[in-house]
Amino acid sequence: MNTKILDGIEVAKFLKKNINEQILSLKKRNLKPGLAAILIGSDPASQVYVKNKEKVFSKHNCLTKTFKFPDDSSEEEIIDFIKKLNNDDAFHGILVQLPLPKRFNTKKILHSVSAHKDVDGFHPFNLGLLFEGNPNFIPCTPNGILEILKYYNIKTTSKNIVIIGRSNIVGKPMFSLLSQNFEFGNATVTLCHSKTENISSYTKNADILIVAVGLPNMVDATMLKKGVHIIDVGINRVNDNSKKGYHLVGDVNFNSAMGIANSITPVPGGVGPLTITMLLHNTVKACELFSTRGSTG
Ligand code: GUN
Repeated sequence: MNTKILDGIEVAKFLKKNINEQILSLKKRNLKPGLAAILIGSDPASQVYVKNKEKVFSKHNCLTKTFKFPDDSSEEEIIDFIKKLNNDDAFHGILVQLPLPKRFNTKKILHSVSAHKDVDGFHPFNLGLLFEGNPNFIPCTPNGILEILKYYNIKTTSKNIVIIGRSNIVGKPMFSLLSQNFEFGNATVTLCHSKTENISSYTKNADILIVAVGLPNMVDATMLKKGVHIIDVGINRVNDNSKKGYHLVGDVNFNSAMGIANSITPVPGGVGPLTITMLLHNTVKACELFSTRGSTG
């Protein structure tokens, strides 16, 4: 079988045409979508992700500002700052880059972001709407995965979809989306995690396999059904002797899946570009909703 590469950069380009039109139309009404990113601590991967978000937002003529806080900041300080941003009309979206340093109460901090500005879709109000089947802001990575499936017309109705990883960022919202009565939903979805016994017995039945665990090359050919579509969400750094000192690999052993899978997202260049694109999409949407609501917070 000739395994097709699902090119996330191509899908992102396609979606950005529409997003650009929305940004232009907002500009005509003197509105500029704005994103405030909060970065706490010095996690190297988080720093790279936030920089990439800034680049994409600037390129699309959106306002973007990163507010950096040292590791030893207090929770109150961060929450007070978020409350100020909730009332700042320049920023339609607020993002708290995760993971936070261990001593922070992540939920408490995420809950302090106004649901109107929750472009990550992590606030319980937005997660509730999503689980109800009436989503407002959809978390960016699961939404990006849906866009990949739509672009390549990988049907989900009545399929067996296995997700590995039960995070609030990817696994749980993805489970909800794919099991809803939506065009790219209606699947029978199995959510596997670190306590699942004999994961292969599930993955071997998967028509679509979504892996989001953060373990380099965790899935290999022995766990796959022939003809499976693979969405690899992992972005793992593996140390090497290159100038950078590392290279990126996914959660799926890419070479091992070749010839068995019908299609697969590469790492990098698969899901990653979609996550930022959907963040742009959500921020533009937040700006549009703000313009009709006419107030902050
Ligand atoms: N860390 C990894 N993925 C994400 C994401 O989608 N949003 C935020 N805020 N942090 C992340």
